[in-house]
Amino acid sequence: MKIPSLTICFLPAVLLVLGNQTHVAAAPSSDLGIGDIPAAILNLLLSPALQVSQLNIEMSVLTLLLNTASLNFDVVTPVPLVEITVDRMSAQIGTQGTPFFSFNQTFSNFVLSGLNPINSGIVPNVELTQGALQTLNVISNTRFDILSATYNLRVLTVNGTGGIPLSLPAAQLSVPTKLDFQCP
Ligand SMILES: *[C@@H]1O[C@H](CO)[C@@H](O)[C@H](O)[C@H]1NC(C)=O
Ligand SMILES: *[C@@H]1O[C@H](CO)[C@@H](O)[C@H](O)[C@H]1NC(C)=O
Repeated sequence: MKIPSLTICFLPAVLLVLGNQTHVAAAPSSDLGIGDIPAAILNLLLSPALQVSQLNIEMSVLTLLLNTASLNFDVVTPVPLVEITVDRMSAQIGTQGTPFFSFNQTFSNFVLSGLNPINSGIVPNVELTQGALQTLNVISNTRFDILSATYNLRVLTVNGTGGIPLSLPAAQLSVPTKLDFQCP
């Protein structure tokens, strides 16, 4: 069932690969599997990259004392027909160019496919880059920017296994954010 959709989705890439190979005498097109698509072209297909549709940040008196927060976020994939598994993400999140939150998290079951946003699960130990007091100044913000991020992911996974590893840089302005401060 999925195979025809995949083929359509990757047709531009296959054509590109074919185009680049026209100098090769009688390159049989049947030799080109999806696994042959180079990382550079996958990168192209994945631009404008994954979109974070919602960011939820949680802080408490305790986490402020530890200079940390925890967060979770929803991601929408640009290629719903292709399963993508996120293994790791590092990110600097802030506002007006100033980073306030920073993390570098490994995920064990963060599988993206389909049209619905997928939640990351809890990312603990998010560093408050500017310190707790400065962070309180932006506590009422309803939007933050992902100033810089790197996704380490695998494209074309099956139920989270296999796939082609890829490191994908990303940045995203004005991500809708819910910031909860829990008072004990
Ligand atoms: C995130 O952690 C991994 C593994 O510890 C490391 O290789 C990578 O350089 C880190 N990335 C950042 C941006 O700190
Ligand atoms: C993927 O997982 C689902 C649910 O766990 C299962 O029904 C399906 O058979 C699995 N597919 C493959 C290709 O392993």
